[in-house]
Amino acid sequence: MILLQILLLNLLPLYYTSLPSTNANKCACATDNVNVRTGSGTNYSVIGILRTNQCVNKTGHFVDNVGTKWASVVFKDKLGWIASNWLTDPITGGSITGCPKIIPRSEWGAMEPRGIVRKFTSQTLPTFVILHHGATESCHTEEECSKMVRNYQRFHMNGWSDIGFNFVIGEDGNVYEGRGWQEIGVHTVGYNSVSLGIGIIGDFTSRLPNEAALNATKQLVKCGFDNGYISPNSTLIGHRDVGSTACPGTRLWELIHSWSHYNENGIVV
Ligand SMILES: *[C@@H]1O[C@H](CO)[C@@H](O)[C@H](O)[C@H]1NC(C)=O
Ligand SMILES: *[C@@H]1O[C@H](CO)[C@@H](O)[C@H](O)[C@H]1NC(C)=O
Ligand SMILES: *[C@@H]1O[C@H](CO)[C@@H](O)[C@H](O)[C@H]1NC(C)=O
Ligand SMILES: *[C@@H]1O[C@H](CO)[C@@H](O)[C@H](O)[C@H]1NC(C)=O
Repeated sequence: MILLQILLLNLLPLYYTSLPSTNANKCACATDNVNVRTGSGTNYSVIGILRTNQCVNKTGHFVDNVGTKWASVVFKDKLGWIASNWLTDPITGGSITGCPKIIPRSEWGAMEPRGIVRKFTSQTLPTFVILHHGATESCHTEEECSKMVRNYQRFHMNGWSDIGFNFVIGEDGNVYEGRGWQEIGVHTVGYNSVSLGIGIIGDFTSRLPNEAALNATKQLVKCGFDNGYISPNSTLIGHRDVGSTACPGTRLWELIHSWSHYNENGIVV
């Protein structure tokens, strides 16, 4: 019995490192020449370079290192790690972490935040995702939506240190980085430090956001769960579930009742 345990203990890691689960849809391809390292950070040594458009198999393990997801991959029959923002999924053309493309602040022309912005920690991950609407006109191109996001930021910075939302979504189907996954936003009185606020550009009192915006919203929420940016038992709610407001608009609020993780009582599901 003891012998068997010793054998298993010795064999399991070996078995794992020599036979990672790989298949074609676990493929990830380099968007530029990128270093493959022995561990999940730039302080680990380089074991080789994956050249632009060359592909590797992922093992399915990711590690977050200061906001960058590192993907575990099989490189020339060895396990290695690559910063996932240099990799693309050849089937979807998108990110390999299952996240939608997120337009960074630098691309939509954000102003620098003023003053101190507080962060979530691994002990205080958000347990709510709160949907909002901007109650403004809508936008359908990246140019229009970037302008709307800049307007939101300017409006919010009349009183706050930065745009209030963690993310903003347009009917161009894009997700715009607001405060991002790690910084605490300002969007829902009493809930900011326990929630992630997502604002959809437009007014959804009497119509729904288009399919592109709804898809992006669902994908962003799923990305948050899959990548550990929000607590595994997070609840999705609308702003009006916890505040006296019409936000996120009656039609959108009715729709999210049917979404998984929705719970109007804010009870963790
Ligand atoms: C790299 O840095 C991380 C912390 O950022 C540390 O845990 C790890 O041991 C370091 N690895 C090496 C090889 O220095
Ligand atoms: C990925 O794994 C599959 C199945 O094991 C294998 O056929 C394929 O050659 C691998 N691809 C790469 C780029 O290593
Ligand atoms: C939204 O997602 C569904 C299901 O994945 C897909 O069939 C549809 O084409 C997507 N629509 C848009 C506009 O991206
Ligand atoms: C679920 O959420 C509660 C807060 O509502 C938290 O205290 C608890 O640790 C969470 N559980 C898990 C497994 O994340």
